[in-house]
Amino acid sequence: MEGKFLEGKGALITGGASGFGRGAAYTLSEKGADVVLVDINEDLLEETTKKVQQTTNKKIIPIVCDVSKSDQVNAMAKQTFEELDNVFILFNNAGMADYSLRDITKVKEEDWDRVMNVNLKGQWLVANSLLKKMRKQPFEPLAGKMICTSSQGSKLLSPILPTYCISKAGVNAMAKLFAKALAPKITVNTILPGVHTTGIYLNSEDLIKTMLKAGNTRIPLGRIGTVEDVTNVLMFLASPASDYITGQEFLVTGGLAI
Ligand SMILES: NC(=O)c1ccc[n+]([C@@H]2O[C@H](COP(=O)([O-])OP(=O)(O)OC[C@H]3O[C@@H](n4cnc5c(N)ncnc54)[C@H](O)[C@@H]3O)[C@@H](O)[C@H]2O)c1
Repeated sequence: MEGKFLEGKGALITGGASGFGRGAAYTLSEKGADVVLVDINEDLLEETTKKVQQTTNKKIIPIVCDVSKSDQVNAMAKQTFEELDNVFILFNNAGMADYSLRDITKVKEEDWDRVMNVNLKGQWLVANSLLKKMRKQPFEPLAGKMICTSSQGSKLLSPILPTYCISKAGVNAMAKLFAKALAPKITVNTILPGVHTTGIYLNSEDLIKTMLKAGNTRIPLGRIGTVEDVTNVLMFLASPASDYITGQEFLVTGGLAI
C-alpha cells in the first residue's frame, strides 16, 4: 500500500509492546500515524517505544495499562486524547493464552475470569473508552476504524484451550455488534491469526513446531506465520482500500483454518 495515508492521524495499539502490536507500531507509524502504545509490561513497552521511535521518527507514546481494569482503561483514554488530537485507528489487540490446558469440564473459575477479562472484556472496555470521541472526528468518509485481534481458535475450538477459544469467539461477536452500532462513521473488522511466532509462543519456532507435531497439524502453506503476515492485513484494514468493508473476519492462517 503506497503513500502515507495515516499522516495527521493517530493510532492506538493495545498489546503494543510485543508481537503483532509491536509490528503494528512500525507499520502504522511508517504510514504516517502518531501512535499510542498500550501494554501491561512496562519494561518491554519502554524498549519497544524507543526502538519504534528511532526507526520511524514519529511520535510514539507509551501508556502502561491493564486493559481488563476499567479505571486504568479510562485513565489511559483520557491521557490518549491529551497526547493526540484524534484516534483514527484503534487496534484492539492485547490478549493472553491460557496455559492451564484443561478441558471445558475442568476449567477453574480463576482461569476463566482471567482470560475472559483480558481477551474479551478488555477489548470491550478499550473500545467504549475511545469510541465516543472517535465517532465525532471530522474525517471523511470515515471518522475512524477499529480492528480487533481474534484467533482461528474461535473457529477451530481446541479442546485444550476452551477459555481462550470462547473469549475469541466472543470477540468475533462483539466486533460485529460494534460494526452495526458504529456504522456509517466507524468500520470494525477482525483479524483471526493462525500460528505465528510471537510472545504468546515465547517467540520460539521450536515450541510451535513441537506443538504442531503433537497435534498432528500441518499448515497447508508450509510454514509458521510471521508478525508481518498479520500486519499486512492490518495495513489493508487501516487503509482507504478497505473503506467499504465492515463487520468482517479475516483469517490469516496459511490455510490452517480451511
Ligand atoms: N501469535 C499467534 O499465533 C496468535 C494467534 C491467534 C491470536 N493471537 C492474538 O494476537 C494478539 C496479540 O498477541 P501476540 O501473539 O502478539 O502475543 P504477544 O504476547 O507477543 O503480545 C501480546 C501483548 O499483550 C500484552 N498484554 C497481555 N495482557 C495485557 C493486559 N491485561 N493489558 C495490556 N496488555 C496486555 C502483553 O504484555 C504483550 O505485550 C492476542 O490477542 C492473541 O490472542 C495470536
